Amino acid sequence: MRSLSIINQKGGSGKTTTTVNLAATLGEKGRRVLVIDLDPQASTSAWFGITDAGKGLLDVLTDHAELIDQVQASSALGVDVIPCSTWLAGAEKALSGEVGAETILARKIRKLPKSRWDYLLMDCPPTLGILAINALAGAQEVLIPVEAHVMALAGVAQIIKTAEVVKERLNPDLELTGIVACRVDGRTRHSLEVVEQLRQRFGKLVFKTVIRENIRLAEAPSYSQPITIYDPRSYGAEDYRDLAAEVIKQERG
Ligand SMILES: Nc1ncnc2c1ncn2[C@@H]1O[C@H](COP(=O)(O)OP(=O)(O)OP(=O)(O)O)[C@@H](O)[C@H]1O
Ligand SMILES: [Mg+2]
Repeated sequence: MRSLSIINQKGGSGKTTTTVNLAATLGEKGRRVLVIDLDPQASTSAWFGITDAGKGLLDVLTDHAELIDQVQASSALGVDVIPCSTWLAGAEKALSGEVGAETILARKIRKLPKSRWDYLLMDCPPTLGILAINALAGAQEVLIPVEAHVMALAGVAQIIKTAEVVKERLNPDLELTGIVACRVDGRTRHSLEVVEQLRQRFGKLVFKTVIRENIRLAEAPSYSQPITIYDPRSYGAEDYRDLAAEVIKQERG
């Protein structure tokens, strides 16, 4: 099972949109995917139509429950979800002063049946707090969505730095899988400039696929459907299929 933290401390960078729709397009291509919603805003959970997740994931992090008991099937082919709710905001407080608080999720992930899923995708909150650190400590890979509407280079450098510290201190296996430009508006020079700068600065780490600005992606959560179901022929579905293909290509080598 490959495990990826989908992370960027900048709000609104496309983490949730990428988590949900990469999961759905990987599922379409025959991969079995488990998604963990680690953001107390619970937007990934809501996108999958789950609004009553309760304390489950918080109980896992405080060692009163196991991940496997939180798994729910989703409407997307091949995709299971471990949802959360605003209860998860209590994690910061509940874990403060706990020995080993940063690696509790890693220990719980190790207990999951490895052969049941091909991918684990974790949607992170827009802060580099205890939840994001748990995601980085528990994943093998980091995937960074970047909103191409803003100058995002400094923010990307900061996450990479944090991931390096986590790698050194908590998780030697952690690798940077890639950076994906999201909300790319081909009509504005600024948007294309951001993509160009990302490529200059981070080279091959930037996925060839860019996710274009597409209203259908913004509408889909209101219908509790990933883009593959909401509008399978949209640009958004096309772009996330291309991204899934690139991610799958990395499987060997
Ligand atoms: N390719 C896209 N085209 C159009 N709208 C998009 C696209 N990607 C994301 N959005 C919109 O941009 C906003 C932010 O996206 P998203 O929620 O995925 O970011 P996020 O990084 O998860 O945010 P947060 O930090 O709050 O968790 C949302 O309103 C979403 O619908
Ligand atoms: Mg989000």
